[in-house]
Amino acid sequence: METNIYKGKDDVYGRARVQDNEELLAYYNKLAELDTGALWTVANEIEPWEPISNSVPMLWKYDELRDLVLESARLVTPGQAGRRVVYLINKKRANVKAACGWLYAGIQVTQPGESTPAHRHKAAALRFIMEGDKGYTIVNGNKISLAVNDFVITPNSTWHEHGVDADGKTCVWMDGLDIPLVNALEANDYAVYDEDGQEELVPMNYSPMSYSGSGLIPVDREWNNPYSPLFKYSWESTYNALVNAGKVSDGTPYDGVIMQYSNPLTGGHVMQTMGAAMQMLKPGQHTKAHKHTGSFIYQCAKGKGYTIIDGKRFDWKERDTFCVPAWAWHEHVNLSDTEEAFLFHFNDLPTISKLGLYQEKAYTENDGHQTLI
Ligand code: FE2
Ligand code: FE2
Repeated sequence: METNIYKGKDDVYGRARVQDNEELLAYYNKLAELDTGALWTVANEIEPWEPISNSVPMLWKYDELRDLVLESARLVTPGQAGRRVVYLINKKRANVKAACGWLYAGIQVTQPGESTPAHRHKAAALRFIMEGDKGYTIVNGNKISLAVNDFVITPNSTWHEHGVDADGKTCVWMDGLDIPLVNALEANDYAVYDEDGQEELVPMNYSPMSYSGSGLIPVDREWNNPYSPLFKYSWESTYNALVNAGKVSDGTPYDGVIMQYSNPLTGGHVMQTMGAAMQMLKPGQHTKAHKHTGSFIYQCAKGKGYTIIDGKRFDWKERDTFCVPAWAWHEHVNLSDTEEAFLFHFNDLPTISKLGLYQEKAYTENDGHQTLI
């Protein structure tokens, strides 16, 4: 199996060709004193032959996390915590609080009758609803209801707050944000809404209901924002879309039937920096392996199976979360012979693609399947 190694390290320009000697070491020291350095000593480090991820593949089992997530509701209020969230830490990205690459993920819990303080930030956010009933979010004055497996966006700099109706059930959802990326670009900010929550500017579910017609868009609206006016993508319409598509196609060799959540006005990604998709693996389906740039955080929405990432098997079932780092080989398997499996994921592909950094490679050995290590 191919791994991320510096191929040809010993036969190119760089440290391998330059033998240290006293004169050179003294020279390096003089450069260091002036806050400079010799590029040939670090060339392979800063310009690898192939993309190298600083993240490792990981899986977070919901069975292990759920009790601790719910316990946070007993320990702190949303008002005290600001955001009562248990966040996921990639073992190699703890320093930037990332779950994978430059993406953050967390699991938030809100009890009936609770609401979070309204705020906004330059980092974009999205949510995937894991459990509960009668949850809602308010984004720029649009109050939107949330149900299990719904996907909802909070584009950068939009005022937002969340809550659960008093007669609802405790809601848990996965938050996905590009905080590590925006922080790395030194462009993040944060502001708290200065009143007791936002005023509802339009009727409940105004935006999703206006724009959710299949292929139809309202002719009496203007939308000049760089993100989807739909805000919410319901599980019902997502499920039906995938099942219908699956009736006429097996989808791609690498993902099965996969559909991107899109801005209905452009067909493009839902937000400027992060995208998301849902995929369906047919009963018994085992996809082929490939790898590509971009960081991906998955959550199983329905079913059970496993994903092999860089030769290691990660078994998942409903509500488990796992990540596929950039340039890691991956292939997915549905373990059921009778039921479809559904995987939600979000990614940084809009950023990667806009910067011209997307590349993809198919695994060509062993009929496209990795050997387990
Ligand atoms: Fe937020
Ligand atoms: Fe992939």
